[in-house]
Amino acid sequence: MRLLSLICVVMALAFARSQEDPAVMGQFELVGRSNCVGVQLVAVPDGNEFFFMERPSSPHPDGHTANACLFDYTTGNSTNVACPLSLENCGHTFLENGTVAVLGGHKPQSKFVEGRRGIQVLNLETNKLESVGSLQYGHWLATVTRLPNGMVTVMSDSPSPVSPSRKDLIQNPFYELWDPANPKTTKLFQLNNNFLAKSKYFYYPRNFVLPTGDMFVWSNTYGEIINPLTGKSVLVLPDWKKIPAAKGMQTSYPFSATAAMLPLRASNNYSVVEIMIFGGQWSWGWINSTAVHLSMRLKINIRPNGTYEVGSWAAESMPSPRVSGSSVLLPNGDVLLINGAKRGQLGDAAQGGVAMLNEPNFTPVVYDPSAPEGSRYTTLGRSQIARLLHSTAGLTPNGTVIVAGGDRSDKFWCPETYSRSPTGFPEYRVEVFAPPPVFDVQHRPTIEESPLDFGPSEVITIAYTIPAPNATVTSVVLVAPSSDTHTNNMHQRVIELPILGTDTDGHLIPIEGVKTVTVRGPPNTNVAPAGPYMLFLLYGKTYGPAEWIYFRAY
Ligand SMILES: *[C@@H]1O[C@H](CO)[C@@H](O)[C@H](O)[C@H]1NC(C)=O
Ligand SMILES: *[C@@H]1O[C@H](CO)[C@@H](O)[C@H](O)[C@H]1NC(C)=O
Ligand SMILES: *[C@@H]1O[C@H](CO)[C@@H](O)[C@H](O)[C@H]1NC(C)=O
Ligand SMILES: *[C@@H]1O[C@H](CO)[C@@H](O)[C@H](O)[C@H]1NC(C)=O
Ligand SMILES: *[C@@H]1O[C@H](CO)[C@@H](O)[C@H](O)[C@H]1NC(C)=O
Ligand SMILES: *[C@@H]1O[C@H](CO)[C@@H](O)[C@H](O)[C@H]1NC(C)=O
Ligand SMILES: *[C@@H]1O[C@H](CO)[C@@H](O)[C@H](O)[C@H]1NC(C)=O
Repeated sequence: MRLLSLICVVMALAFARSQEDPAVMGQFELVGRSNCVGVQLVAVPDGNEFFFMERPSSPHPDGHTANACLFDYTTGNSTNVACPLSLENCGHTFLENGTVAVLGGHKPQSKFVEGRRGIQVLNLETNKLESVGSLQYGHWLATVTRLPNGMVTVMSDSPSPVSPSRKDLIQNPFYELWDPANPKTTKLFQLNNNFLAKSKYFYYPRNFVLPTGDMFVWSNTYGEIINPLTGKSVLVLPDWKKIPAAKGMQTSYPFSATAAMLPLRASNNYSVVEIMIFGGQWSWGWINSTAVHLSMRLKINIRPNGTYEVGSWAAESMPSPRVSGSSVLLPNGDVLLINGAKRGQLGDAAQGGVAMLNEPNFTPVVYDPSAPEGSRYTTLGRSQIARLLHSTAGLTPNGTVIVAGGDRSDKFWCPETYSRSPTGFPEYRVEVFAPPPVFDVQHRPTIEESPLDFGPSEVITIAYTIPAPNATVTSVVLVAPSSDTHTNNMHQRVIELPILGTDTDGHLIPIEGVKTVTVRGPPNTNVAPAGPYMLFLLYGKTYGPAEWIYFRAY
């Protein structure tokens, strides 16, 4: 009996220790305060900065009133960025040359002027957002997607009416195609009417460029694969109406779920696509209703002739309910779910001024798509900061996750203890969450030398070191930079590169301990739209820090 209780105590202690071990639970670290709220978060290629845009929430910690800033997650330093346009609810992506582009925005707000038709690029020499053109219709809560040919789509509903010249249109059935090489204006395409009729909420659609060049478009409970260059529907995707557990599950604003496309694998010649949608709120949900605790996974096979074989959505149970969270696709193919709430809807103030989102979900979870069903989710260590409305997250070049943003941080219902926003309504504190693999330092490969760019099917060799003497890299991936807002990380993509050879005996690089791995580039820009990526080397599930690399269209 005594022995048994001793064993229990030892086991409980070991459990308690593993609950605190960052190599098991990951770890949050406060890295600084940004000068504006990270409502919109975009990784700035080629460095350690993230570009934040916000809803005007002056006075800022530095007394300034700019509505955008650059934040360096390694130093905690913040630099103001000037922009006269109202930016909240805009969309963002990266151009082939790595420049951040911002499309759409908000109606006039505070001292900032009409931004819904904005087309802007971030100039890092002047620290200004510069207008380079104008959209034809207003877009807010707009998803921006870079296509394989370098053009960009902007797609969203629009606050009614769509434009001064179309007072008849109170919902926006149009998306626009912008060519950065000819930036002043755009081409308009009309979507299938079903998008507005069936999805009900056509805000921040979940768009993923497929390895065929077509686009997966999902809004709330309805989706299609379309050809983004013609607007034509290729096929209507299945829904989950007939899956009892998922009946009533809604996924678009204000019931905001988060979504990700799982890694594109060289081992199947990039012919299998899997899309996941995590959480959301039920159709009957209100400010105190428990959020959706399910994730949905859909497999799409691409046949050799380019047609699709679409499976049906599979529901899985998450460890906790989550609405208004963010998803971050990690270099090892796992998906980190972070931020958001266990109750309520995405939004500002309900009637009477009470909060729409309640009971923060402080605890990130990670989903391993390759684990056996039923054991794919792992709960990680919690944050002390509530991140509800207007919170964001994105992958850093170190393989950690920057966690930012939060508005209406002064008022919500919460049964747990936490650290209140020192500035009330806006949350300027920025954290970095390091997932467990980052602490496996013995197996983190560090890139010593890699090319700055490469092209389709080009063979490249990467030199690296790894502390464990006998360990060699087992996979190599490209990860597109994060561009996250309102639960929509609209640009993330992981592309596995086939390993053609490895060298560990110093033939290629005669420096002791320096090993090499040779890989082939993605076959075309459908698999990897041209532009900036982070190159990560992996040893099993552990990945090291990345180097920036450009995939070129030549
Ligand atoms: C961060 O900003 C401070 C104040 O402007 C400056 O003194 C410091 O050099 C900056 N640090 C880095 C690493 O840029
Ligand atoms: C990148 O391309 C865009 C669109 O052509 C252009 O506006 C921008 O100035 C370019 N950026 C750089 C750094 O050359
Ligand atoms: C891989 O797919 C491409 C089209 O994306 C095709 O041209 C090529 O033949 C395929 N390779 C194999 C080995 O199936
Ligand atoms: C939501 O829950 C909180 C805490 O139990 C309670 O104070 C509040 O009245 C509830 N609001 C509604 C609308 O039910
Ligand atoms: C593509 O291949 C599938 C399966 O082999 C076949 O059923 C379909 O008719 C083909 N479609 C076209 C357009 O060739
Ligand atoms: C990268 O992550 C490791 C592990 O958490 C940490 O020791 C290191 O300081 C980080 N480096 C940067 C630049 O963030
Ligand atoms: C590394 O490999 C060598 C040769 O196979 C072996 O003798 C040595 O024990 C290994 N070292 C470790 C740390 O596994």
